Parts: sequence; C-alpha cells; structure tokens
Amino acid sequence: MSKLRLGINIDHVATLRNARGGAHPCPVRAALLAMEAGADGITAHLREDRRHIRDSDIARLRTEVPLPLNLEMAMTEEMLRIALKTKPHAVCLVPEKRQELTTEGGLDAVRLEKELRPVVAKLQDAGIRVSLFIDPDTAQVEVASRIGARAVELHTGAYAEQVSGDRCRLSEHHLSPATCHLTSAAKLASQLGLEVHAGHGLTYDNVGPIAAIPEIVELNIGHFLIGEAVFTGLREAVQRMRALMDKVRA
Ligand code: PXP
Repeated sequence: MSKLRLGINIDHVATLRNARGGAHPCPVRAALLAMEAGADGITAHLREDRRHIRDSDIARLRTEVPLPLNLEMAMTEEMLRIALKTKPHAVCLVPEKRQELTTEGGLDAVRLEKELRPVVAKLQDAGIRVSLFIDPDTAQVEVASRIGARAVELHTGAYAEQVSGDRCRLSEHHLSPATCHLTSAAKLASQLGLEVHAGHGLTYDNVGPIAAIPEIVELNIGHFLIGEAVFTGLREAVQRMRALMDKVRA
C-alpha cells in the first residue's frame, strides 16, 4: 500500500492563543514543528467568526511554511475571495454553523449540488485542488464526482464516536458499521476517480482501521494531537501518529 499523507490541523493552537488575546502559542510555529516531525501538510479552518484561525494566520502559513496548505472553509463569497487571493494548495469545503463547537456532519452535496458546482470550478480553474468534506454515503460521493471535485474527505466522526470505548481492540473497529460505510464510500470514490481523504475525531486508538482502507491517501488530524501535545509535546504527538499510520501501510 502507498504511504498515507498526514495533514496536521493547527486550529486549536490558535484557540489557545486567542484565549489570552496575544501571539502565543503561534500556529505558524506549530506548523513548522509538525513539518519537522513528519507532517505532509498543514490544515487550517478559517471560520466565518474567526474563532481560532485568522486571516493573518492563513497568509503566514501560506508564505512561511513550506508544506501544502489545505484551507478548510465554508462555501461563502467571502471565503471564496480569500481562497482565490491566497491560493492555498487545496481547499476543503465544509458545512459551517455558527453555534457548533466543531464541524458536525458532512457537507450535504446532494442538496447543494447546484451551488457547489461553480465554486468548485472557480477554485480548480485557479489551480486549487478541491475536496468536499462529506459523510461516507454513496449519493454524496456520486455528487462530488459529478460536479468535478478532485477529492472527497470522508467524515470519520460517526466512526470515532462508535468506537470511542477506551482502547477497543482493532478487530472490533473493523466490524463496526461505520467502518463498513467508510470502506465502501472510499472504494466508490476511488472508482469514480476521486482522491480519498478522511478525518475528524481520529486518535492513536482509532486511526488503525482507517489507515488500513487502501483507497485513502490522506488523513487530516487536529484536536486529539494538539491535546496530546500538552502532555508529550507536539513533535512526539505527530511522530507517534505518523508511526502508527506508517505501520499499517508497511
Ligand atoms: N477534516 C475536516 C474537514 C475538519 O473539519 C476537521 C475538524 O476541523 C478535521 C479534519 C480534524 O478533525 P479533528 O480536529 O477532530 O482531528
């Protein structure tokens, strides 16, 4: 199996910084450290309310960090303007509700097909790879393919919740219905020519079965690793996740 790319989501470094309103801890420093520790890309979500990542972070991540930047954003005029100006390597279109704590559920590409099509085209015409953050559902994958997105990111939140008992055994993860949905959605997406990514709620304990799905080429992981960094440091947290993913792919 090919190597699995690891994108580190540094949003919650900014959450911590913003709690005191100063400049520390700096998300750009975290991104550089993650790169040294083996990350293949940096992911950041510029939310409409700027609760963590800010516009200036995106500009600095783009110019100061020599790794592909994956900008997560809602499908709004403002975000489209920012993406076309900043030109990140990739954009992941996500649903966004102001009150939610984190991205709850995938983008409803089936309902939004008409609105998504021109946004995907504008971004991709500008040389930006677009992925749609969707639930692992056949109809959603088919729409992503139909509107010409280059990639899908399969939402692993339901999987993570289903297997969240402490340190479940690997075999139990493999049998969970959520794992089956992810496996078949990944297979279909790949058959349709889409690049397959996955993310949300992934931890040391639950990453194995996701890394074992051969069609998946990229994982984006944030909250757990930033939390672990409090205890072990970011370098060790990223290295350990990298090693777990590499072991499955070896
Ligand atoms: N991928 C997408 C599209 C997301 O919205 C998020 C959460 O911001 C992640 C991956 C990372 O999820 P987590 O922080 O739970 O690892």
